[in-house]
Amino acid sequence: MRRVTKARWGAAATSSLLVLALAACGGEGAGSGDGGEAGDGGEDVKIGVAMPTETSERWIADGDAVKSGLEELGYEVDLQFAGDDIPTQTQQIDSMITGGVDVLVIASIDGTALTSQLDAAAAANIPVISYDRLIRDSENVDFYVTFDNYAVGVAQATALLAGLGITDREGEPTGEAAGPYNVELFAGSPDDNNAGFFFQGAMDTLEPYIADGTITVPSGQTEFDQVATLRWSQEAAQKRMEDLLTSTYSGGTELHGVLSPFDGISRGIITALQGVGMGPTLEEGLPVVTGQDAEIASVKLIADGVQSSTIFKDTRKLADQAVVAAQAYVEGEEPEANDTETYDNGVKVVPSYLLEVDTVFAEDIAPLLVESGYYTQDEVDAGVTD
Ligand code: BGC
Repeated sequence: MRRVTKARWGAAATSSLLVLALAACGGEGAGSGDGGEAGDGGEDVKIGVAMPTETSERWIADGDAVKSGLEELGYEVDLQFAGDDIPTQTQQIDSMITGGVDVLVIASIDGTALTSQLDAAAAANIPVISYDRLIRDSENVDFYVTFDNYAVGVAQATALLAGLGITDREGEPTGEAAGPYNVELFAGSPDDNNAGFFFQGAMDTLEPYIADGTITVPSGQTEFDQVATLRWSQEAAQKRMEDLLTSTYSGGTELHGVLSPFDGISRGIITALQGVGMGPTLEEGLPVVTGQDAEIASVKLIADGVQSSTIFKDTRKLADQAVVAAQAYVEGEEPEANDTETYDNGVKVVPSYLLEVDTVFAEDIAPLLVESGYYTQDEVDAGVTD
């Protein structure tokens, strides 16, 4: 195939002008499968797609969507999941590089653990697209596709405030708050760059309510390092919630809400709460628990009035952006960024394409998740995907 290399990007600018000129004459655009420079039908193009884990359904959906989008362009795809094990992921990426991939799409487990893989990719002129999670401490990350991670945290905290009745879902105070409300905080994995953004967005949103006493955190655990959850583990979250219930709430202090950054963590928290007899539903006094990813098991819990909310990140849209970016590299072009300021990976600001997210309460399941075809109503009812 026509091998795309970083060294060629300068030349590619010229050749893409040629492509444009040809397209203008022939009425055939990039990717039209016309046998021209850009539209070579993806012949012999191979893309490596490294996903962190199959234990969370969001990453399976991401992997499948990226794979099928790339295959539609005629590219060959090497899709690997690493079981949340860092050595497995580094090995998978090593073998994608030696296997001759033309572009790498990577959702990292530990964002700081891939420097030598990225050096090898750069040496082989393989563009690297960081998927959802920013790869840190390397010059050799070329592009980042993700959701607006700070906005996710803002949305999570706003959903907590709305669930408690302190604000409406837009974050406007209702004036009906009957606090103080006792809240506990959970954050994601400390080696995932996103976790800090989520927590920062959430804490900036909660801060005024903590400052004026509407919200208190009885455990006193408000620092990221105290509330982080390594590898986003559901079991670790359940254990920490159980410990908090014992240390802080066994004397009769009421718990009203829990900030949770991910649906798996939310389910661990809910199991711990129900385990001490709370709920079992919100109506029956279960604390308000937030989430993220609209995982089907949590969507069912929301429909059943158990989990309060989640944040929907449409993985189809993220996958599309990754495919568009990969195609740009294959065609010798630079992907289009819509943010060139926010994501400093410690070495450079990585040009990014950010997508928006939606908050899901029970009333939003039909319009946002079912009508858009993300899930069927049967899947929501069953709490599993087909
Ligand atoms: C993703 C979240 C996800 C979490 C756990 C983060 O990097 O952005 O959507 O909930 O990982 O898988």
